[in-house]
Amino acid sequence: TSGLKLPEGFLYGVSTSATQVEGAVKEGGRGPSSWDWICHNVPSTCSGETPDVAVNEYYQYKQDIQRVKAMGVNTFSFSIAWPRILPFGSKGSPVSEEGLKFYDDFIDELLKNGIEPVATLFHWDTPINLMSQGGFLNRSIVEDFNNYASIVFQRYGKKVKTWITFNEPLVYCAIYATFPFDATQKGGVNVTLSPFICAPNLIEAHATAVQTYRGLVSRGKIAKGKIAIKHDGQKPLPFDPDSESDSKVADRVADFYLGLFSQPIHVDGNYPQIIEDTFPPSILRRFTDEEKEIIKGSADFYAIDAYAVTVAKTAPGGLEACISDVNNAYWPVCQDTNPVTQHSRVNGWPIGAAADPANTGLIDTTQHMREFLKWLSEKYPSPGGIYITEFGFTEPFEVLLPELYQITWDERRANYLLDYLNEALLAINEDKIDLRGMFIWTPFDNFEWRSATQLKYGLQHTNFSAPGLDRTYKISFFQVRDFFREHLPK
Ligand code: FCB
Repeated sequence: TSGLKLPEGFLYGVSTSATQVEGAVKEGGRGPSSWDWICHNVPSTCSGETPDVAVNEYYQYKQDIQRVKAMGVNTFSFSIAWPRILPFGSKGSPVSEEGLKFYDDFIDELLKNGIEPVATLFHWDTPINLMSQGGFLNRSIVEDFNNYASIVFQRYGKKVKTWITFNEPLVYCAIYATFPFDATQKGGVNVTLSPFICAPNLIEAHATAVQTYRGLVSRGKIAKGKIAIKHDGQKPLPFDPDSESDSKVADRVADFYLGLFSQPIHVDGNYPQIIEDTFPPSILRRFTDEEKEIIKGSADFYAIDAYAVTVAKTAPGGLEACISDVNNAYWPVCQDTNPVTQHSRVNGWPIGAAADPANTGLIDTTQHMREFLKWLSEKYPSPGGIYITEFGFTEPFEVLLPELYQITWDERRANYLLDYLNEALLAINEDKIDLRGMFIWTPFDNFEWRSATQLKYGLQHTNFSAPGLDRTYKISFFQVRDFFREHLPK
């Protein structure tokens, strides 16, 4: 790939989220979020840790921005904590000026350093007050979210030109929408059905906020920018590429994983047919024609978080598919006998395991990357192009070299990221894919949700036992920097 270039204006950045980095959970009257609540009250959910401090980014962001700048990034993707702006989340909640000011300062610091901010409105941290009213299982959240979004757009809309409404709606609706009710067995939530109650509410909240955003732009209240939603999910590979039935299963999984949110938003306001056939309107609310008009086209580009890939296989009993992570009676789960993928699954996350034809689990994303991007651009074509808004690698075998060297040897992560980046380069140059940006998860080891500080995705090491939570570089940091030095247009 030497000599190949990334296109003009290509966004090269890193990505974080509020809960995972900020800490300072009580500063400026910030209200509690679902994650604060659950980590404190059901400690096993978060490996016995809490996001109270995380990596202290709230206070250390200036140093962190300098460290990230040393990678040569031209953009930084972060999320705004809803309860920091509106402690109660709801329309009637007081607005915290101190919370608003924090992101003003943060955004200004990025801009001052020549780094373009990309802001996400919601990265899973629902204000606890709204959770107690059902969170995204209660349709009234659409209005609350729109109120929050409108405040944020008006405050930062002159400085932030790229917006994301929601992070990973599938993971959120399938797993976290019921936190903390499922863990405490309170609230009588049916967690098998909850994803399908959450999904239409989330889609409507997204589309309504986008409408608000576009209204503010067209009235000249804020700068012209772009807005989208950060999808997750995969198009699995058929286990046997020659098997028609395995291919059908793969398509079906893609419809469930990606289509549930992508088709309404990027195509026509409707769910994929297979989803409509599977769930009656009593389970999955259908949109009215008027709602469909707002939903259809409510994204200016296609944003996808792309980590691992699954393999889909026909089960003896008929249509069954191998999927992971989601434990839901409607979504069949496969047996995974591969020790590498099992290892990562035990840890809650796929690593970039080597492809193994006998493996029915997750395989190395890099080998599937170009095919996936081709498939995405045909299935959900977007005039604003595609952005890979997160990709990354959790590396169980990295080694912190003796203190003298101040560096972590993470060869597997570095190799994985370089393979991935090279595939992207080929996708752009050879397959003519309109890929316009890539964001690496994540600039430094941080609070990885249920795995807390146990799972490390960082390009920098965070010393969680040092009072200053010192960051030091890993090998991958330099290799990624060098890749972009070589391939970004001068
Ligand atoms: C993504 C999440 C992000 C982080 C990475 C590892 O699914 O959006 O917050 O947990 O995975």
